[in-house]
Amino acid sequence: MLLFAAAIQTSGQDSKETEISKGKVKLKFALDEQGRAGYSLYFDGKTVIKHSLLGINLAGDSAFNRQLSILATTKTTFDEQWKPVWGEVSNIRNNYEQLTVRLKQQHSPGRLINIVFRVFNDGAGFRYEFPKQAGLKYFTVSEELTEFRLTGDHTAFWIPADYDSNEYKYTTGPLSKVDAFEVSKIATDIAVRVVPDQQGVQTPLMLKSAEGLYINIHEAALTGYPAMQLHVDKNDFSLSARLVPDALGNKAYLYAPFNTPWRTILVSDKAADLLNSKTILNLNEPSVIKETSWIKPMKFAGVWWEYQTGKSTWSFADRADTTDQQGGLIPNGRHGASTANVKKYIDFAAASGLQGVLVEGWNYGWEDWFGNWKENVFDFTKPYPDFNVREIADYAAGKGVKMIMHNETSGSATDYERQLDTAYKFMNTYGYPSVKTGYVGKIVPRGEHHDGQWMISHYERVLQKAAAHQVTVDAHEAVRPTGLHRTYPNFIASEAGRGNEYNAFSDGNPPEHETILPFTRLMGGPMDYTPGIFRIKGYSTVAGRQVHTTMAKQLALYVTLYSPLQMAADLPENYAAHPDAFQFIKDVAVDWDDTKVIAAEPGDYITIARKAKGRHVWFVGAITDEHKRTATVALNFLDKGRKYVLDLYRDADDADWQSNPEAYVIGHYLVDVATVLKIKLAAGGGSAMTIREALQQDLTTLKKYK
Ligand code: NOJ
Ligand code: CA
Repeated sequence: MLLFAAAIQTSGQDSKETEISKGKVKLKFALDEQGRAGYSLYFDGKTVIKHSLLGINLAGDSAFNRQLSILATTKTTFDEQWKPVWGEVSNIRNNYEQLTVRLKQQHSPGRLINIVFRVFNDGAGFRYEFPKQAGLKYFTVSEELTEFRLTGDHTAFWIPADYDSNEYKYTTGPLSKVDAFEVSKIATDIAVRVVPDQQGVQTPLMLKSAEGLYINIHEAALTGYPAMQLHVDKNDFSLSARLVPDALGNKAYLYAPFNTPWRTILVSDKAADLLNSKTILNLNEPSVIKETSWIKPMKFAGVWWEYQTGKSTWSFADRADTTDQQGGLIPNGRHGASTANVKKYIDFAAASGLQGVLVEGWNYGWEDWFGNWKENVFDFTKPYPDFNVREIADYAAGKGVKMIMHNETSGSATDYERQLDTAYKFMNTYGYPSVKTGYVGKIVPRGEHHDGQWMISHYERVLQKAAAHQVTVDAHEAVRPTGLHRTYPNFIASEAGRGNEYNAFSDGNPPEHETILPFTRLMGGPMDYTPGIFRIKGYSTVAGRQVHTTMAKQLALYVTLYSPLQMAADLPENYAAHPDAFQFIKDVAVDWDDTKVIAAEPGDYITIARKAKGRHVWFVGAITDEHKRTATVALNFLDKGRKYVLDLYRDADDADWQSNPEAYVIGHYLVDVATVLKIKLAAGGGSAMTIREALQQDLTTLKKYK
């Protein structure tokens, strides 16, 4: 519903300064004496961004950012409500003040560029627009000159500006201490690392100022353009945009008219406000998919953790170049995606109410799949001999379970594009409504990067092709998300961060990791983190390897790490060992009417309550870092006058992520709107809660929580 959108002011070229504001947020635009555009941003009277330059330089016109004059400025107000196909809330308000500044080069050829600013209650966004014009048709961007000049040496939660990966642990510390080389050098567990700038950081960049402002810098609606990274100037704490280059060192090839992605700055004096922000989503275009009933959030199991922990293999054979007398691969006897094993997972999913089953390692190519920069690796329509695709499809359908396709490309995007049509037709033929894609390895076309313009367009082409075949996409190793799931709601999740899997094949994720992710990686969209590991120790043959959380915290992650696609990642036998705790994974929702961020501090703790879509059931997750603490949860979000049952899953009193991670306690209590819970979280621990309407018998059998 559109409430109000109107032009309220247009002015001529004399005013070189103008401002817009919304709530506590104010943005000023100014053109300086050299005719360069700039802006500054304020929150509640405090400076967030000092006067910072804007502009874009083109190949062959390195002065396009200077000697500009203002043709006109226009201010508009916008207010609408919209309903996401799935989400953390069922209704979103998009309410902003907009300022459009139309600029023209003073000298010949008099090129045009517009800068559009939008100010929301919790921040601002701006983008560059190249209108259709005679002096600019096809053009190449050599650099974007956007600056974010901060007011001090803020605490940053950062990962290196890698052109190919976001799978790092976060470093917390002052901006002046950023050293991306030091971090990337030791991150040998990441398949491809390209970090050319020692002072480069990725977005979403989370910052906290000494005055207590929480600031988040990212981008929205990244299409047709490379990802933006940030260069940190340690002396004056200014950040400047760096676009991921292509194989030739150029940044973007454009054709006017073209709008760049939005640069976003979220700000508040409360950390929780940033987690509640819908500004990045609001800056994306509405859905291009009109009929969306086929897009379904879901929980799933998968033939997956057994690969990560070395129990079985993706590949059918150990060698690609040794065959039997008939020319077939020689089976290694440890292949995970056999028809019999897959049926076990289908049975498990059906018995547990999980809607989907992912199977990796089902298709030819895994004997020699990455690290050699090969172009032709996988066949996306050719199952291994022991994977009977028809039999499995029928078996799953008979049990009401949806199969999730796996298309690992090992970075060979050209090969994937050639097979896209047949791959998605194959999914339709066998009834796969969802695909997990993967890009482990260096990109083909050779010289391109995961986050460069060519690949950004590739990921979008995949979403479009998938939509045409009514398939949802969970992309791994793709660029970090920028809210594009508003436009393509079939973009149901992605990885683009350091997932739980690192606990299997590396020294893992520190206990604070999941308290930072919502403020960084998840600002742009949901993450397929693959929570729910119950066997915290002893799954690996490598000494000392373990998950860096308690078991109760693994449950809490289903609520604190938002995703409409959530995996029950552990092996069925490890869930069978804890049926009482597994009940939470069976119960937890993946789509929500409402979300309340109860407490949050990046790097320390997060407590979130969410109401299941269309039901009077709430789920709460509370997590902490390596410090134990008490989570206070006032249930004031419940309906007045209604009686509820709380199923409480918490760390045992002697639990500890390192020494005693699998010790948990489950309790059931009567609660209502006046209840205030005090839950002890172990070091590296957490707590998960289901709050459902009480039945008559509960009122007599259960005690009140105290
Ligand atoms: C990396 C992905 O993150 C992981 O989930 C997957 O199993 C492997 N690539 C193989 O595709
Ligand atoms: Ca990965």
